[in-house]
Amino acid sequence: MARKIVITSGKGGVGKTTLALLLSARLAERGERVLLCDGDFGLNNVDICARVEHLVTYDIVDVIEGRCRAKQALVKHPDFGNLYILSSNNTSPERYISPQAVKLVLDGLSPQFDFIILDCPAGLDDGFHRAVACADEAIVVTTPHPSALRDADKTLALLKSYHLKELSVVINRYRGDLLLSGECLSPKEISELLKAPILGLLPEDYSIGEGELFSIHPAVRVLASNLTTGRRKLYDVTKKYAGLWGNFKRVLRKRL
Ligand SMILES: Nc1ncnc2c1ncn2[C@@H]1O[C@H](COP(=O)(O)OP(=O)(O)OP(=O)(O)O)[C@@H](O)[C@H]1O
Ligand SMILES: [Mg+2]
Repeated sequence: MARKIVITSGKGGVGKTTLALLLSARLAERGERVLLCDGDFGLNNVDICARVEHLVTYDIVDVIEGRCRAKQALVKHPDFGNLYILSSNNTSPERYISPQAVKLVLDGLSPQFDFIILDCPAGLDDGFHRAVACADEAIVVTTPHPSALRDADKTLALLKSYHLKELSVVINRYRGDLLLSGECLSPKEISELLKAPILGLLPEDYSIGEGELFSIHPAVRVLASNLTTGRRKLYDVTKKYAGLWGNFKRVLRKRL
């Protein structure tokens, strides 16, 4: 049976889809059988981010409404033999898709996978509840900014009522220069504030933002390894700014 993990945040645009895709790709690269499911039934974009939109014939709504079998809606990623994408659909609010219907599809596919990663929509309403109800574990993505942290706190409070097996936090878009100068909270401070363990740190980086799948960022590798081994090793986001050259970069970045 697969580990079913929902990637959520409350706040929009903090990097849920980016993390869901990169984590899925890295796990698949490590030999795990991974299903990445788009749990966003409004602003669905996993197929575009994974660059497989031209391969999608059916989506999860077609499966739920009986137009195809679940297997027919899976798209095998051309670059990762073990990674399958189950796309979503931009359904109208009148076309109600229940959490039970989505759960039924994912539970049916579960024996064929080691991981099912579910990309959650922003917000804490129906879409959030539908995605979380299908999962056994949750990863809350936040940035170190106060507004994102407040939303992460609210999200974690809600998630606690679901009695999930695992609940952890990923801090995205972390800037090593700001961490070194004390202008943002440290991972330890964020963990204490949110009362949740930190699964990983992802730096502010163009290659992460672009969902670069061909040379997956080392920070994603550390995070994926934490997920599979249960360790809590954190990627050093300040590394780039250490030493003489690093200090120079830091001063330069501050001036720009
Ligand atoms: N670590 C990062 N460094 C730089 N850019 C990033 C990073 N993570 C994400 N981004 C960028 O931030 C933007 C939002 O990311 P993404 O779409 O993954 O967020 P989201 O939480 O899924 O958004 P939504 O709530 O709308 O679904 C994208 O343009 C992405 O490229
Ligand atoms: Mg998204």
